[in-house]
Amino acid sequence: MSTLLVVSASKHGSTTQIAQAIGDEVGKHGVEVTVADIDDLPLLAEFDGYVLGSAVYAGHWVAELRRFVELHHHLLSQRPLWLFSSGPLGDDSLPAEEPTEVAEFAHWLGARDHRVFEGRLRQADLSLLERAAARFVHAPYGDFRQWDEIHDWALGIAETVQASQRVR
Ligand SMILES: Cc1cc2nc3c(=O)[nH]c(=O)nc-3n(C[C@H](O)[C@H](O)[C@H](O)COP(=O)(O)O)c2cc1C
Repeated sequence: MSTLLVVSASKHGSTTQIAQAIGDEVGKHGVEVTVADIDDLPLLAEFDGYVLGSAVYAGHWVAELRRFVELHHHLLSQRPLWLFSSGPLGDDSLPAEEPTEVAEFAHWLGARDHRVFEGRLRQADLSLLERAAARFVHAPYGDFRQWDEIHDWALGIAETVQASQRVR
């Protein structure tokens, strides 16, 4: 059975939940999935493929995940890899384009795909500074995550991993 590691970097938990949903979906299709937080990683070399996802803050991935990519780029570029970002909040108050470094990462690592998913913003989660920043860009509070879109993307990953399993 193929193994897949889903790694996420989040500040307020909503990206972690997306990673879990991706892991749950892929795991239903004959792939052994481990979902891990960037702060608590298993041994990378044990996996046949990887999904990396980060929340987006001020146009960038969370710093720990950027460092992770730089540190492990050799291994990551040798196995099937998918990237996702979670940030936009259902309108155009925040940039919906890819975070600055991700196109470069995708090219460098030979990623199969990069997907930007909508995120979640809850006032109670935010520091005073973050609240002020959110107010400054008129970011709306709410949960904008599109679970059907997330599940469909995960299904595509499962199909690709299964197909590569068959040709082994
Ligand atoms: C201070 C601040 C800055 C943000 N900057 C961006 C941004 O540049 N681009 C974007 O798409 N989303 C941005 N967001 C929205 C977050 O990425 C979104 O709320 C995401 O779902 C948070 O994920 P997390 O709960 O995993 O931390 C920002 C949110 C805050 C509070």
